[in-house]
Amino acid sequence: MAQTDFIKDIAKYGLENDQDRLLASLNELIDHAKKSKKINFALQLQSILKDSIRQHQTNGLLKVGSSQHQQREDDREVNEFILEKLTSDYQFDSLVCTDSVKEELSYFIKEHQALDVLHKFDLPVSNRVLFYGPPGCGKTLASYVLAGELEKLMLVVNLGAIVSSKLGDTSKNLAKVFRRAAAEECIVFIDEFDTLGKVRDYSQDHGEMKRVVNTLLQLFDYLPSSSVVIAATNQIDMIDEALLRRFDVKINLELPDESHITELINKTLKSGLVELDTENDLPSIVKSCKGLSYYGIQRTLITAVKRSVIAHPRTNMTKPRINTDLWLELVRKEKQQFSSQ
Ligand SMILES: Nc1ncnc2c1ncn2[C@@H]1O[C@H](COP(=O)(O)OP(=O)(O)O)[C@@H](O)[C@H]1O
Ligand SMILES: [Mg+2]
Repeated sequence: MAQTDFIKDIAKYGLENDQDRLLASLNELIDHAKKSKKINFALQLQSILKDSIRQHQTNGLLKVGSSQHQQREDDREVNEFILEKLTSDYQFDSLVCTDSVKEELSYFIKEHQALDVLHKFDLPVSNRVLFYGPPGCGKTLASYVLAGELEKLMLVVNLGAIVSSKLGDTSKNLAKVFRRAAAEECIVFIDEFDTLGKVRDYSQDHGEMKRVVNTLLQLFDYLPSSSVVIAATNQIDMIDEALLRRFDVKINLELPDESHITELINKTLKSGLVELDTENDLPSIVKSCKGLSYYGIQRTLITAVKRSVIAHPRTNMTKPRINTDLWLELVRKEKQQFSSQ
């Protein structure tokens, strides 16, 4: 069935108020989106579905003044500070990284799978993670991997809405989001964390910045062990020392070395639908890619694949071949752009 057929079914069952069939079609559409690699679309649909289930559960008769009513009011207020709520299907093997990063991440995941044991022995739980390093090296991806592996809902914080020009409001807004995360036992993801945790930005009101850092310190301290905060930054040296110390795990995601570049290329070409031409061998291409981010390398490769396939559309009998001269040219251009930034 095509995507449009699922949408027609969903419209029909929605209008007929046929909840069971509607849910079945929606689930089929989610599976279809996953299979056709529309991961973001699938994640968004899943979040809508989960949200609606939660709404239904609290949708009984709500008296004004009841605690549930209060919860719904709070929800509305917090929603503007949340860019996205998502559940993730990403798993460990989507991320190419060093063994030590793998080890850190897997310890973190194991801790959360063994909360009972840690509680029994009265041991503290690591639940504050900082990803840092240059752009395009997997900070956002690693956060999705954690959300997927921990099977937790992730609230992606909308910093634009949280940071307020009104004195004191930024701290209040942050507190609201953390309260929600505590209530729902979910992950709070703060990208570009340096915007909040900065100490050395003199263009801002210094008093307000200090207040925000102090609020974060408190919120971090009182975060329940079943909730997690993940922060990401390209500028770790801008972040307040005391705040840095609060993170249980700090993970540096660096530019890839040759073995990681090879792994990334193989993963990206995994489907086996295309292969390299014989003009340049893989090791020499890998060498040329050194210095680029994972994202930059993946982008040049995907562009090269697209252009090669379009240039030879009639090769459906044989595997389309990637024009490696073209790919190397794209790599060279990407590097130029990177160094001129
Ligand atoms: N370490 C990595 N392993 C595999 N793919 C990566 C990695 N880093 C980046 N990518 C690719 O580049 C895209 C953008 O990376 P992203 O996680 O947004 O980088 P960052 O948040 O560090 O700027 C990812 O969705 C993924 O396709
Ligand atoms: Mg990112």
